[in-house]
Amino acid sequence: MKKISIAIDGPSAAGKSSIAKIVAKKLDYVYIDTGAMYRCVGYYCLQNNIDLNNETAVSAILKNIKITMDSNNRVYLNEHDVSDQIRQDEVSMSASLVSSYQDVREFLVKQQRQMSNVGGVILDGRDIGTVVLPDAKLKIYQNASVETRAKRRFLENKQRGLSADLETIKKDIEQRDYQDMNRKISPLKKADDAIVLDTSNLSIDEVVNEVLKLAKQRE
Ligand code: C5P
Repeated sequence: MKKISIAIDGPSAAGKSSIAKIVAKKLDYVYIDTGAMYRCVGYYCLQNNIDLNNETAVSAILKNIKITMDSNNRVYLNEHDVSDQIRQDEVSMSASLVSSYQDVREFLVKQQRQMSNVGGVILDGRDIGTVVLPDAKLKIYQNASVETRAKRRFLENKQRGLSADLETIKKDIEQRDYQDMNRKISPLKKADDAIVLDTSNLSIDEVVNEVLKLAKQRE
């Protein structure tokens, strides 16, 4: 069967990566977590005391950043496994901030396109269907109510042993939604040809099956 490119966009904590990972495994596709790449840039800035509000300073450190991922979805920043560190709430907010900068987006989008050049890929993010892979055969816009997303992130954080306060998580999600949807460059929005999946009342299995069905129709 022909391998296609699948784009999954949507707001924070909508469950995109959980779905994308399972679908990638089932279809034997490569999964690319583009949010992890923005998180790496944010994390690097935090680690190196770079002023996140200083766009010039953030642009200047891009040359020092090498991001790789392995087939187990581990994320490496300059050869160090940062998979767990980049999930902290502080890193989420810093990723959202640096992702509004043109140099950062150009730097990462170029790599995302190169990484997608293997056929049979599934990418999740905010601008995959609109900017990174506008010709993707299947585009999904995955959404869920802010309450559902906050609860999911709360449980995820608890499982990871990270601090978790439901109200703070909800506020952070709302703030990131606002920042991601209102930035000037590549704001989060549904691609015209994307299929909307509201997962508020769906189980993971139900969403996976829907995505697999849609993918099969396009192979
Ligand atoms: O998906 P995740 O929550 O890990 O993404 C972290 C942040 O990176 C998002 O809040 C968003 O600002 C940014 N991002 C982006 N474009 C993408 C993926 C993520 O701007 N394709």
